Amino acid sequence: MRTYLVTGGAGFIGSNYIHYMFRKYGGDIRIINVDALTYAGNLENLKDLENNENYIFVKADIRDREAIEKIFAAYDIDRVVHFAAESHVDRSIRNPEIFVETNVLGTLVMLNAAKKAWEQPDGSFPKDKRFLYVSTDEVYGSLEEGDTYFYETTPFAPHSPYSASKASGDMLTKAYWDTYKFPVNITSCSNNYGPYQFPEKLIPLIINNALQGKKLPVYGDGKNVRDWLYVDDHAKAIDMVQEKGRLGERYNIGGHNEKQNIEIIHIILDTLKDMLPEGDPRKALVTKDLITYVEDRKGHDRRYAIAPDKIKKEIGWYPETMFADGIRLTIQWFFEHEEWMKHVTSGDYQKYYEEMYQVK
Ligand code: NAD
Ligand code: DAU
Repeated sequence: MRTYLVTGGAGFIGSNYIHYMFRKYGGDIRIINVDALTYAGNLENLKDLENNENYIFVKADIRDREAIEKIFAAYDIDRVVHFAAESHVDRSIRNPEIFVETNVLGTLVMLNAAKKAWEQPDGSFPKDKRFLYVSTDEVYGSLEEGDTYFYETTPFAPHSPYSASKASGDMLTKAYWDTYKFPVNITSCSNNYGPYQFPEKLIPLIINNALQGKKLPVYGDGKNVRDWLYVDDHAKAIDMVQEKGRLGERYNIGGHNEKQNIEIIHIILDTLKDMLPEGDPRKALVTKDLITYVEDRKGHDRRYAIAPDKIKKEIGWYPETMFADGIRLTIQWFFEHEEWMKHVTSGDYQKYYEEMYQVK
């Protein structure tokens, strides 16, 4: 049975990936989920797997070399999928240090521990071992309207402390291939949305605020563009890259779905209005008057847009979920998980939200 070590599996994309993998492979795989449970990690995301004997949760910090080496010693790991990271750009602007610690040094710990566990006496690595670094399109910097797309060959030009730290982890991963032929892949993905996304990110924040009749904060002129991908499509791409990707290669993953932030907000409001049943008191709260332009994000990247041509040509992956469908699935999920939202919006998240938007 193949054993996966997934870091950051209690977060948004990691938990969706674990669900996807068990849906696809059932009892044929085992997953060890290693997560420090920061503010963004939530074991509620994986509640339904608690009695699955092929799923093992280990609370550990990827910066803790000893703890990570112990996991590699305890389990014969075949695949690493490295999601764990500090992931929010606004937080990185306020507190960059933790981003370097987790995203750079934590990645180095993961690379070294896997290398130590897998390396043969002659310096080679067994054929079936693979380490995948989950990178981001933000490493490429920012596009303007009229520019083309980010390709795998686009030079790195990260702007925020978040994207600079992700670019460092990304380059370290590539360096392990170039130097040791340590078996890696890197995937650079655009903005994800879907179930279990923490409501500091645009889409769940707007859904959550609108349902409560709270203001909808739009940074700057609202015309920054992101290329949105439904999270299950990302999970599928990661699996396909690990199955079919050429070692040492980077693959861009994107949704062919560029939208301005303000367009996203209008789509969410229209979809909420449409999906809320007549007589639901929240229907009256959801209005365009909630849209509030606020101070822009510092160094705000204007446009991200991915060309997922290489992954389509070499591996056969393409984005399957149309935004109109994905956003309905996401909203339906939030309707059905009010308790989840209540839990994550209490405590630490609430304090952060108040500081960030100066609201009480
Ligand atoms: P998230 O913030 O929802 O989850 C991050 C997870 O990592 C949490 O469970 C957290 O507890 C865990 N974690 C953080 N620091 C840790 C540490 N030191 N040790 C162990 N666990 C730790 O993030 P996400 O949105 O799911 O993103 C996952 C990965 O995908 C990140 O590497 C991110 O850079 C990348 N990515 C995200 C997007 C997106 O749109 N969200 C797009 C492209 C790439
Ligand atoms: O592109 C991939 C990246 O996408 C990932 O690497 C990051 O981990 C992920 O957080 C995401 O980064 P963004 O900064 O693009 O996502 P965010 O949801 O924070 O913001 C999306 C856009 O919406 C961005 O232009 C900023 C804007 N925004 C965001 C928030 C939270 C607002 O206008 N108002 C808001 O309140």
